[in-house]
Amino acid sequence: MSTPDVQHTTNNAGIAVESDEHSLTVGPDGPILLQDHYLIEKMAQFNRERVPERVVHAKGSGAYGRFEVTNDVSQFTKAALFQPGRTTRMLARFSTVAGEQGSPDTWRDPRGFALKFYTEQGNYDLVGNNTPVFFVRDTIKFQDFIRSQKRRPDNGLRDNDMQWDFWTLSPESAHQVTWLMGDRGIPRTYRHMNGYGSHTYMWVNGAGTRFWVKYHFKTDQGIDFLTQAEADELAGQNADAHRQDLWEAIERGDHPSWTLYVQVMPFEDAPDYRFNPFDLTKVWPHGDYPLIEVGRMTLDTNPEDYFVHIEQAAFEPSNMVPGIGPSPDKMLLGRLFSYPDTHRYRIGPNYAQLPPNRPHVPVHSYAKDGPMRFEPARTGAPYAPNSYGGPAASAQAYGDIAGWQAAGEMVREAYTRHREDDDFGQPGTMVREVLDDAARDRLVGNVAGHLSDGVSAPVLERALAYWRSIDQQIGDRIAAAVKRP
Ligand code: NDP
Ligand code: HEM
Repeated sequence: MSTPDVQHTTNNAGIAVESDEHSLTVGPDGPILLQDHYLIEKMAQFNRERVPERVVHAKGSGAYGRFEVTNDVSQFTKAALFQPGRTTRMLARFSTVAGEQGSPDTWRDPRGFALKFYTEQGNYDLVGNNTPVFFVRDTIKFQDFIRSQKRRPDNGLRDNDMQWDFWTLSPESAHQVTWLMGDRGIPRTYRHMNGYGSHTYMWVNGAGTRFWVKYHFKTDQGIDFLTQAEADELAGQNADAHRQDLWEAIERGDHPSWTLYVQVMPFEDAPDYRFNPFDLTKVWPHGDYPLIEVGRMTLDTNPEDYFVHIEQAAFEPSNMVPGIGPSPDKMLLGRLFSYPDTHRYRIGPNYAQLPPNRPHVPVHSYAKDGPMRFEPARTGAPYAPNSYGGPAASAQAYGDIAGWQAAGEMVREAYTRHREDDDFGQPGTMVREVLDDAARDRLVGNVAGHLSDGVSAPVLERALAYWRSIDQQIGDRIAAAVKRP
């Protein structure tokens, strides 16, 4: 921490105060006077220092950086930030999911990989994770899933039985759980993990042609992980190990970077693809849709103030610029509502005016008033349409809507199945074809360790059947290694 120039302390109104150390009293032994406004301001301000922590992804770290385009992908999208030669300032926040603000960085958990690009077309937010898939495929299950990972209502403890109970009753979780229990479930640092957009998104090019895309940010530092034993030890020694690592790397000029690739699926391929391409529990095998390089993101600037820039950062998957749109993924469509809603609760309805969330382009919206509004409304007439020169929306400014045709009866049903859709195929491939012997051994150890810690007999039996459905051999090995209740 640098030593600041010594200046005279003022109160929040800029008026010089007499003492940092003594309240105003009647004689040296008190009582304290109500007219000591500075003392009251200090106490009142302190009592209001916290905003609610994020309901998920509460513990995080972040930095500013830049995104540079290195390849011409203009045939797939007209989005300005992905055009050749562009460099765009951006903000990244990495996080764990289930832990609270003070929780250890090294708990086994997916990691958030949230990005905000300050583009010339407004903010583009890509709010992904360090995993290409997720535990559930319908927004209506997200809240239950998270409750099973957080704390029990009676004793306030986390509980492996709840986790396996939910997972085994939700077999679509198998791919994400296999990934989580493997090496990538605890990255060595935030710098040593990949990021994925995870969902399928739409890209639209200048001619209006639509494509389905998946984003992959591959770490240029190389993938590295912590074993369960290393992570447990570090959790006790330094709960903020990953926050410290990211901060210190950037401070010493060792700027971490990630190369962005996309998989691109022609719009027309979706109905007949072998998997449902919008199902968040599936990847698109690289052999079907190879990675195409787009550019590089580099984190080069630490936040000047953690609370202002990282705690108040508000990422929202609904921030999409022309040339980029959603897909029929039922998780993504739910998320488009959820994030702006939670920001209004967590940091207030004018959250978009806070420094990390302010677009780097002029805002001509008709929003006005509300708590903590500090930007004056930019228009004369506060309504549209108006005849006094206020902004007017134009379909031309936006261009083609990134949409698709939809029709049918209203139903509550699972996605239509494609010919190779099932819950256990892709995790089985991961266990058999992606992991090597040593990684498989660690997977067995991690799962058996987790299942040996507080999981009830019926849930354990279901968990062993779940693993045997992923891979018979791995299930048998876990069954042999687990300590039964
Ligand atoms: P590939 O052999 O082309 O890809 C396998 C991918 O697995 C690698 O590229 C790597 O992803 C990832 N990987 C390597 N080690 C691990 C690990 N310990 N834990 C998690 N992921 C790891 O085959 P396919 O594309 O056909 O995919 C086969 C299986 O690989 C899938 O069923 C899926 O389980 C897994 N996978 C696939 C990804 C995809 O987008 N196709 C992405 C990640 C995993 P990366 O290059 O992104 O580091
Ligand atoms: C954070 C909801 C699925 C990635 C959050 C927050 C909410 C939320 C309410 C807190 C945001 C805040 O307070 O700032 C949901 C819902 C989901 C869902 C309803 C399912 C329908 C996902 C998925 C991913 C993801 C699938 C990744 C692919 C993140 C990340 C953050 C986050 C990275 C932290 C953002 C930050 O750093 O501020 N989510 N989420 N979420 N979510 Fe989700």
